[in-house]
Amino acid sequence: MEPLRDSFGRTHSYLRVSVTDRCNFRCVYCMPEEGLDWMQRADLLSYEEITRLVGIFAGMGITSIRLTGGEPLVRKDLERLVAELGRIPGIDDLAMTTNAHRLAGCAQELADAGLKRINVSLDSLDPERFSALTRGGRLDKVLAGLEAAIAAGLGPIKINCVILEGENDVELYDLVEFFGARPEHFELRFIEYMPFQARWHTSLASAELRARLSAVYTLTSAGEGVGQGPARDWMIQENGLRIGFISPLSNNFCSSCNRLRLMANGHLRTCLSDDGTPSLRDVLRNGASDAELEAAIREMVTGKRKGHEALIDGGTPFEGVMTQVGG
Ligand code: 5AD
Ligand code: SF4
Repeated sequence: MEPLRDSFGRTHSYLRVSVTDRCNFRCVYCMPEEGLDWMQRADLLSYEEITRLVGIFAGMGITSIRLTGGEPLVRKDLERLVAELGRIPGIDDLAMTTNAHRLAGCAQELADAGLKRINVSLDSLDPERFSALTRGGRLDKVLAGLEAAIAAGLGPIKINCVILEGENDVELYDLVEFFGARPEHFELRFIEYMPFQARWHTSLASAELRARLSAVYTLTSAGEGVGQGPARDWMIQENGLRIGFISPLSNNFCSSCNRLRLMANGHLRTCLSDDGTPSLRDVLRNGASDAELEAAIREMVTGKRKGHEALIDGGTPFEGVMTQVGG
């Protein structure tokens, strides 16, 4: 098998699959209150089309799939897609990133269908702040979703947390205490806020968060973490909680990027920062054979950018909209 290599020598084993650009939340750092100009139904890849494409990617060395959105659970019958993807030879890791608001009702079904792990986006443990940050989300439903996921065997759960200066940074220690009470079930990961187009919020750099945590806890390095992701992991000695820092801005990891993103409308986003990537859907719907699709994918990956140029205090913001790309 010829690996999926770009012109900078990076090989790709990880594909994020966005199943919808819609979301039942409107997180302040992600979307405007009124929502976005959503993709039309006919433009979305069907589950059959996604399954076919993932099969072709698997033949080129993709082993790890993560379902994203928007919010993946707003798309109907997601367990049907999970079951199909789980049957594809070569796919040995099948995960999902969700806001968990609707998870309590379907965690067991998803696990039964073959989902292995989840990451949950959660930026506040205060019901009112949570509702304000997500513009209407209910914290109790998310916490119920976490419990259902643990009961279904989808743990340990990585909690993705975007800390914004002056917005939720007062909760840094509360988050560590809450999840640190059950370190066997949770890992907490702090993601630097990435500016998409308008710069609405103030990112707290990972080093600053680490300094604030080190003022209270003893942190020891836990190496590069499991898997091949960009997180730098630490252990909080006092409670045994594993924490990770994902630092796209302060510690750009583009040079080791192994990931590709399939958007819900079939565009292959080869780099998170590149809005201008081509549509696989059009190739597919024009009747291409698997071999032709494979050739199209290889050509797109060859054209992958070197990386993004956003910085903590400026640089070039990311193109497009996060919720269309799925993080
Ligand atoms: N910067 C960083 N993270 C973001 N997310 C959404 N928008 C941004 C942004 N601008 C996070 C969500 C979710 C993950 C997929 O991406 O909180 O955890
Ligand atoms: Fe929805 Fe996630 Fe965006 Fe929040 S960050 S609005 S949960 S897609």
